[in-house]
Amino acid sequence: MTTSSSPQAALSSIPADLACAQDYEQLAPRFMALPSFEYIAGGSGAGATAAANRAAFARWSVAPRILADVGKGHTRLTLAGSAMAHPILLAPVAFQTLAHAGGEIDSARAAAALDAVIVSSTLSSFTVEEIARAAEGRHWFQLYFQDSRDATLALLRRAEAAGCGAIVVTLDAVIQAPGNRALRAGFRMPAGCVAANLPADLSEPLTLEPGASRIFQGIMRSAPGWDDLAWLLAQTSLPVWIKGVLHPDDARRLKGMRVAGIVVSNHGGRGLEGAPASLDALPKVRDAVGADFPLLFDGGIRSGLDIFKALALGADAVMVGRLQMYALAVAGALGVAHMLKCLREELEMCMALAGCATLERIDGAALWRND
Ligand code: FNR
Ligand code: LAC
Repeated sequence: MTTSSSPQAALSSIPADLACAQDYEQLAPRFMALPSFEYIAGGSGAGATAAANRAAFARWSVAPRILADVGKGHTRLTLAGSAMAHPILLAPVAFQTLAHAGGEIDSARAAAALDAVIVSSTLSSFTVEEIARAAEGRHWFQLYFQDSRDATLALLRRAEAAGCGAIVVTLDAVIQAPGNRALRAGFRMPAGCVAANLPADLSEPLTLEPGASRIFQGIMRSAPGWDDLAWLLAQTSLPVWIKGVLHPDDARRLKGMRVAGIVVSNHGGRGLEGAPASLDALPKVRDAVGADFPLLFDGGIRSGLDIFKALALGADAVMVGRLQMYALAVAGALGVAHMLKCLREELEMCMALAGCATLERIDGAALWRND
């Protein structure tokens, strides 16, 4: 790794030697302070699940097809009622000023330019209103339950008023601690990097009864349950996606609650360490919810080929997390826009050579498992 203690300033043009979307991952360490890079790149604990996310893609090959007519090919889709030009969304990634001063505003501009939806985090470095202005209508809001229902509702109402097209409720990261890579690199959130949507945290340090668990009675004390989710779903007429689902039983139960769709995700390996690769969970969740239920996928996407594999294994569309931060660090809005363009072209190339003119044509038969 070529990380230096004083990172290079972001570029105002795309480097000539950048060949593909994944190259942003190799370049990014030069453009970020080492602790920030380690925080973003790492997973929870030793990073087993983050590594599994990537390894899962390598277990599949795409079977090429000859003489296919793809002259009318396209990547359009309708996802839970939203028309999209292609199946690539920007995943909610917190604190984007860690990567670049332009943060989520730059990512949102890139999304708007490339016909992609940005899902902005509850923990964004700019407010949901500021991001909405930059996203020109292609904006969903990722909601974390807050300590009180009033505070959760206030965020929901702000997202609605800002014109967000959907809400993505993330449920897989109720406990999160920096992973080993971040800790070893001495990561601390820089003073200017704050969650702009939330009031400054003035809460008293938690006091526990003797013998009480710091986890069960401490951090988990205000964790949401199924009742809270049912309550939230009754508060809005926006489509509500649930992010962070891997278990087919959870997926079945959610389907019964009439959510708009599910994001099959393990938070990029930043939640439960030891959770399976997101890609391995995807076909199980697809089987559980049936062919027509809207499914988004994230975890380990670094190329258009990866996107093809995720679509073949049951996703309707995908989200990219770390690649967004890497491209942002290298070249701000331009980098994110270029990364999205690369991903889309890589996907189209793969579709054309696999004989799939449209997204509906991509299915499990296109993949062979490598033994
Ligand atoms: C995330 N992710 C995340 N998810 C979420 O719902 N809310 C959030 O605030 C964040 N924040 C966040 C920060 C950082 C630095 C990372 C790397 C990830 C998870 C994200 O939405 C997505 O699930 C994963 O990043 C997908 O995996 P890849 O694409 O990073 O491999
Ligand atoms: C993360 C949180 C903020 O993954 O969701 O870093």
